[in-house]
Amino acid sequence: MSYAEGVSADAAGGGGCCHARLPGAWQPDSRHAPSNRRSDMPPQPPPVLPLASLTHGQEADVFALLAGKEVLTTRDGKPYFRVTFRDARRQVSFPIWADSPWAEECKRTWQPGTFYKLRAVYRETAYGAQLDIRKIRPAVPADAADGFDPASLLPSSRYEAAGMFAELCQLAEAHISQEPLRRLVLGILHEHRARLYELPAAAHHHHAFVGGWLEHVLSVTHTCILLAEKYARLYPDLVPPLDKSLVVAGAVLHDIGKLRELAWQGDSAVYTAEGSLIGHVVLGRDMVRDAAMRQAQAGHPLDAETLLRLEHLILAHQRLPEWGSPKPPMTPEALLVHYADDLDAKYAMLYTALREDSTPGPVTSRKNPLGQSFYRGSPPREETA
Ligand SMILES: [Fe+2]
Ligand SMILES: [Fe+2]
Repeated sequence: MSYAEGVSADAAGGGGCCHARLPGAWQPDSRHAPSNRRSDMPPQPPPVLPLASLTHGQEADVFALLAGKEVLTTRDGKPYFRVTFRDARRQVSFPIWADSPWAEECKRTWQPGTFYKLRAVYRETAYGAQLDIRKIRPAVPADAADGFDPASLLPSSRYEAAGMFAELCQLAEAHISQEPLRRLVLGILHEHRARLYELPAAAHHHHAFVGGWLEHVLSVTHTCILLAEKYARLYPDLVPPLDKSLVVAGAVLHDIGKLRELAWQGDSAVYTAEGSLIGHVVLGRDMVRDAAMRQAQAGHPLDAETLLRLEHLILAHQRLPEWGSPKPPMTPEALLVHYADDLDAKYAMLYTALREDSTPGPVTSRKNPLGQSFYRGSPPREETA
C-alpha cells in the first residue's frame, strides 16, 4: 500500500482539495458529547497518546514536533519530501511522495520547528517507522487541555531537573570546605536555577537536550570527587596539596558560560552572538570573576590565589586552543576537571552511537561525533537442543 492510499477519504478532503485540510478542518472533539442513541453517536475519536507509546497499527491523536522537512529526489527524478516528526522519546522520518494528498500542504505550510496535532496510524515497515496521517494542524495553546506541553516534546534528560539541581547543590555543600568558594558556587547556581533546569550542555554533540547541562555537570562533579579523593590519597606529599574544594567548584562551574553561549530557539539549541564570538570558556571565566567581585563587595572575598586558580581551571578545561582553551591545564585541579569533563562527553557520544546507530552488523558506522565505529557485541548464539 502506498503512503497516499493509507490516507482516509475524510483526510483527503473529499474532492481532493487540500485546502479543506488546513487547521480549521480538524473537527471538534466529541468524546464527551452525551447521547443515548447509538445510531446518533459520532465515531469515537482515537485517544490522545504520546508518539513514543504507539505500537504498530495503532491509531491515535498525537502532539509532535516537525523536526525536519527535506526536499529529495527519487531515482527517476521526481521530487518528494522527507519529514521528521518527534516527541521526547521517538523520532519518525518518512516520505511524503509527490502524489500524496499531503504533498501540497507539506510543501506550502508545514514548518520545521512547529508543533502539530496529528491523527495518524503508526506503522513499522521495512523502511522504518511511518505515520499514515489522517489529519494534521498546528498545535495551539488551547490544546493544553488535551495534554499539549511543548517542553515535554523536546528531547530531554532521563533524569528530573529539580532532583539533579538539588543533588548538585548538595555536593557543593558537602565537598567545598572553603566558605567563600562554597558561597560563590551556590550563589551562581541559585541565581541561574530556572535556566539551568532547561539548558543543554552543548548544541549538538553531547547532552544536547533539555536538562543536559545539569546531567553532564552533575556527572562530571561526581567523577571529580572520586578523582580528587583518590589522587589526594595517592600523592599525599604534593606541594601545595591537591585542593578538593577547588576541583569540585571547578567541576560545577566549568561550563557555566554555556548560559550565555547557548539559547533555545524553538526546538533547537543555537549559539548566541557572544557564544559564537567569545565562547563559553571565556564567558564562564567572566561570569565567575564578576560574581566573585560582587561577593567581595558584599564582604565575602575569595583569596586571590583561589580565584586565580578557579579562573584558570575554567579557561583551561577544554585543554586545546582548537577546542576553545587559551591555556592547557596547568594545575592538578584543572587537569582532573579536564579529563573528567572529556570522559563524560565522550561516554555520552558512545552511548548515543550504540543506541541510535542502525547500521546492520556488529559495529556501528563512523557517523558520530567521535568519527569511529563502536562494537555492539556478537548476537547471542542460538541454543541447540
Ligand atoms: Fe566546556
Ligand atoms: Fe563540560
